[in-house]
Amino acid sequence: MESQVEKPLSANAAASQHSLQVILMAIILMLVSSCLAPSASAAGQEAEALLNWKASLDNTSLSLLSSWVGNSTCNWDGIGCNNIGSITHINLTGSALRGTLHSFSFSSFPSLLSLNLSHNSISGTIPSEIGFLKSLQILDLSENNLNGSIPHEVGLLGNLTILSLHNNELSGNIPLEICMLNSLSVIHIEKNSLTGSIPESIGNLSNLTVLALHRNNFSGSIPSRIGNLTRLKELYLMGNQLTGTIPNEVGKLQFLTLLGLVDNRLNGSLPLELSNLKFLKNLWLSGNNLSGNIPSDLCSGGLLEMFTAHNNQLTGLMPTSLRNCTSLVRLRLERNQLTGNINEEFGIYPKLVYVDLSYNRFYGELSENWGECQNLQSLKLSNNRISGRVPQFERSIQLHVLDLSSNNLTGTIPRELGRLTSLFNLNLGDNKLSASVPPEIGMLTNLQYLNLAANDFNGPIPEQLNGCRELLNLNLSKNKFSESIPLQMGSIHSLQVLDLSQNSLMREIPPQLGQLVKLEALNFSHNELSGSIPYTFDNMLSLTVIDLSFNHLEGPLPNNKAFLEASAVAFENNTGLCGNATGLNACPTETRGGKKGSKSVILIVVFVLAILFFAFVVFGILCVCCYSQEVQNENQFAVWSYDGRLEYEDIIEATEEFNSKYCVGVGGNASVYKAELQTGRIVAVKKLHIVQDSGVANLKAFESEVRTLSEIRHRNILKLYGFCSHPQHPLLVYDFIEGGAWKTY
Ligand SMILES: *[C@@H]1O[C@H](CO)[C@@H](O)[C@H](O)[C@H]1NC(C)=O
Ligand SMILES: *[C@@H]1O[C@H](CO)[C@@H](O)[C@H](O)[C@H]1NC(C)=O
Ligand SMILES: *[C@@H]1O[C@H](CO)[C@@H](O)[C@H](O)[C@H]1NC(C)=O
Ligand SMILES: *[C@@H]1O[C@H](CO)[C@@H](O)[C@H](O)[C@H]1NC(C)=O
Repeated sequence: MESQVEKPLSANAAASQHSLQVILMAIILMLVSSCLAPSASAAGQEAEALLNWKASLDNTSLSLLSSWVGNSTCNWDGIGCNNIGSITHINLTGSALRGTLHSFSFSSFPSLLSLNLSHNSISGTIPSEIGFLKSLQILDLSENNLNGSIPHEVGLLGNLTILSLHNNELSGNIPLEICMLNSLSVIHIEKNSLTGSIPESIGNLSNLTVLALHRNNFSGSIPSRIGNLTRLKELYLMGNQLTGTIPNEVGKLQFLTLLGLVDNRLNGSLPLELSNLKFLKNLWLSGNNLSGNIPSDLCSGGLLEMFTAHNNQLTGLMPTSLRNCTSLVRLRLERNQLTGNINEEFGIYPKLVYVDLSYNRFYGELSENWGECQNLQSLKLSNNRISGRVPQFERSIQLHVLDLSSNNLTGTIPRELGRLTSLFNLNLGDNKLSASVPPEIGMLTNLQYLNLAANDFNGPIPEQLNGCRELLNLNLSKNKFSESIPLQMGSIHSLQVLDLSQNSLMREIPPQLGQLVKLEALNFSHNELSGSIPYTFDNMLSLTVIDLSFNHLEGPLPNNKAFLEASAVAFENNTGLCGNATGLNACPTETRGGKKGSKSVILIVVFVLAILFFAFVVFGILCVCCYSQEVQNENQFAVWSYDGRLEYEDIIEATEEFNSKYCVGVGGNASVYKAELQTGRIVAVKKLHIVQDSGVANLKAFESEVRTLSEIRHRNILKLYGFCSHPQHPLLVYDFIEGGAWKTY
């Protein structure tokens, strides 16, 4: 290269002053000087420093640093230089680096503006020498395994604007020196194990726009000087042990869009000053001990989208400004002591997706206005004192979950509900609903949970119910259903739990129910059923819990483990059940293919078996056809019409965004977390590790696992509750079994 430079140089000297050549020469000189000349020794030092550090890393990391050889650091992967050849940027995010920072010679990089080593496996402490990076503006060491405390020397980084240390294992206090860095605009130190209180002097950071301290162990109260952070837009304090009240000074944060205080120990009432926050979009206050009323003007800026304050002690009426808050997307106020007439307190929310007002003291009738919320997916109003009729939900055809249970609703189920074909959970249990159940309920082809228990429904169980071909759990108990159990019920092959107890069902149990091979629990107790239990029940291999008590049943038990091993109470108060089970008399004479064995009985059995076989074949063919159709118009949630997105948020909440404290196991391709969902159900969440660049292949494998698991159902196989094929966080959600049967997956 140097000889090439010599030529034009001498040519130029010899020739006349040709201007073009002069310019060319100048450019070349500049290039040469910037690459080699003045800072050659500094560059050499930087190269040596980086190579030393590289040598200290685990071998597995090194292939990704294969370009790090020789002396021209500016050409190395992840390195950026200024125009005099000094390193200004080191960006090795997500490079699978494994090692420590102890061999990193911080003093060799006086010009470094940005150091990004995020998303690696760097462990050990953050060396105090980090203070040598005098020019540093951006420090991102997030998503590593760093431990120890944040060194005080971070306070020497006078130009720092972004400090990201989140998702590590850092402990100790926030060094007060950080509060002197008045150019700081973003602090992300969430998801560590930091302790101590939030320093008052944090109020010095007048340029701060984002302060994220959530999921640590911070204690003490929220300092009132937080109100000095007048440029703050986002304040995340969730998941700590903060006590005391929410300081009124929060109302001074006029640009605040997000205030997250969830899961602390805050008490007292919500400051009225919250109404000053005109840009507020997200207000998350749940899981504290907050009391008093909700401030009247929370939605004064008209931007409020997510307001969650569930699990507190809030009292009083809904503020009028929420009635007109058309920006609302998600509203969670369940488990408080809020009151008021639900008909008057709520308006029409075109963007509303999720509402939970359960476990409060709302009364009055449900307005048809809920039916104007076209984006509504979840409406949960259970355990209030709501009266009147079930609305028609005219236009809320996206409803997935409708839970109006444990109220005082009267009238019947409107036929129009049959149009809500996205419904997957319909719970109207424990009300005063009456009349017969409309056949239109069978149009809910995606329904998985149907609870109509503890009402006054009468008439026959509609045979059309078999249109709900995804149904997992059907509870019709504690009503006045009469006539026989419809034989069509035998074609709801997905059914796992069937409770028809405490009704007036009569005649024989239809043999078709024997086709419910996925059924795990069956309760027919307290009815008027007669005749014998069909032999077809031999086939119900998933069955574990049965209750047939208080009926008029007689004859032998089916040859089925659940029956043979059931306790006597499962059969008590019948006319004449007999067999080998505890508490039953042996059958007087073998009536099943036994000694009497007249040829006609055998013939009948063979005939029935032949018909059953034929039915299974026909059904099998139908299934295959239906199934392949389903596969064709597959979207990301198609295998199961499970409400993945909503539950996904629940899972995020339940696991505190996959906090390691919920992790119960890590395998080759997944981590498993134990999570208690809001419903109280405990599930195992299998979070698949994403392999960079093979996302699509992974997703394919994932979807095939989901499909397989959703097809099988057996008592020895885990119940798959749901999944979410989010490209970054594919999740599988199983029934949680203590002792870890999921480990075999
Ligand atoms: C604060 O931020 C503004 C605008 O981003 C910037 O001009 C100013 O220099 C910053 N102040 C300090 C002390 O860094
Ligand atoms: C900071 O906040 C305190 C208490 O809220 C207040 O007294 C003080 O004037 C504020 N300082 C500045 C510079 O705004
Ligand atoms: C919540 O606050 C009430 C008073 O409002 C108090 O009696 C109760 O002990 C507090 N509960 C917790 C868990 O702090
Ligand atoms: C069956 O239902 C009855 C009445 O609803 C209930 O008392 C009983 O506990 C149930 N049996 C089982 C095994 O759950």
